[in-house]
Amino acid sequence: MERGELAGKTIVLGLTGGIACYKSAELTRLLIKAGATVQVVMTEAATQFITPLTMQALSGRPVFTSQWDNRIDNNMAHIDLSREADAILIAPASTDFLAKLAHGMADDLLSTLCVARDCPLLVAPAMNRQMWANPATQRNAATLRGDGIAILGPGSGDQACGEIGDGRMLEPEDLYEALAGFFQPKRLAGRRVLITAGPTFEPIDPVRGLTNRSSGKMGFALARAAAQAGADVHLVAGPTSLATPYGVTRSNVQTAQQMYDAVMADVSRNDIFIAVAAVADWRVRDVAHDKIKKTGDADVPTLEFVQNPDILAAVAQLPKPPFCVGFAAESGDLEKHGAQKRQRKQVPLLVGNLGPATFGQDDNEVILFDEAGQKRLPRADKQALARSLIIEIAARLPSRTPG
Ligand code: C5P
Repeated sequence: MERGELAGKTIVLGLTGGIACYKSAELTRLLIKAGATVQVVMTEAATQFITPLTMQALSGRPVFTSQWDNRIDNNMAHIDLSREADAILIAPASTDFLAKLAHGMADDLLSTLCVARDCPLLVAPAMNRQMWANPATQRNAATLRGDGIAILGPGSGDQACGEIGDGRMLEPEDLYEALAGFFQPKRLAGRRVLITAGPTFEPIDPVRGLTNRSSGKMGFALARAAAQAGADVHLVAGPTSLATPYGVTRSNVQTAQQMYDAVMADVSRNDIFIAVAAVADWRVRDVAHDKIKKTGDADVPTLEFVQNPDILAAVAQLPKPPFCVGFAAESGDLEKHGAQKRQRKQVPLLVGNLGPATFGQDDNEVILFDEAGQKRLPRADKQALARSLIIEIAARLPSRTPG
């Protein structure tokens, strides 16, 4: 979740009957934190699972449950509530409600509002696995997809009934991410993006190693922004505790060599390669099998290093490289070093930043170097900056040759 990301957006959050209603309380909090206006509408069944009072307190707005509610001036809640909305999200969406939507039925406020809407509709199914697998439900889901309605999930796992399988409503964080992504322009639709992120860890012995202060935040933010822009994203991450962005495939590695191997195994199917990882330049030549013991005060071990492969340069030199984007963390004179590094690595785009000012921070300031020269992007939150960088990258992509 990114604070302010949904500022100015109005979401009609529809709740239908299901245990998963409790998750919608948390989802409301996330949407509100992100700056959205949330108008909750509940079916009669939903009020059996969570009270309108709870949803009103969390959303800060009166909750609507009945089409006969006369609080709206013209008495047309089913029209007025959706006219201000940027999207309607039904979470949880019950088996019954999916069936109603698929058939255009309008026999309560929420279903009528969906039929009368003039904004996108997203649904998050929540039901027992047999109910989800039922051919009628599957038929209804296919009809809804055909009608342009986005179906989020369902997830798989333990169910409230004690059974295990498909049909769980997605977690609130995932629903939030799916909705936030829904609003982003699909600049990278149909593109595959490979990203390296985080530090690497080069072992010295079984308990010690060399690493650096990269947090992985910039690379993870770029993976999220690329996925939100519609790309199929593979993130190769060094050791970091950051959560995998929604919809992103992640491979975890430790050493530079492992990162190199993971990238090389996948790179040929990608359109874009973004090397954000702070890869260790050197590794210890002979990693000790056992912990190196401290024997005496004057007796200190000597480590010998060998150079690690340069992943970015290796990818850029492939016969048919993807569009390559490099990062440079300099400690000074960024303008000179950035331009030189772009030339040396032979990449079309290099993003330069000042290392000490960015490592571990939530915001960053960068200069873009390309063949046309330099462009400075103003200091911004790493998530916002990642979105700007995706726009810059998308604008520089060679257009696709047909076939
Ligand atoms: O040469 P330098 O390490 O400053 O270059 C930084 C850029 O090269 C980053 O994009 C980084 O991810 C990439 N790199 C790499 N493999 C290395 C070293 C750096 O991909 N061994």
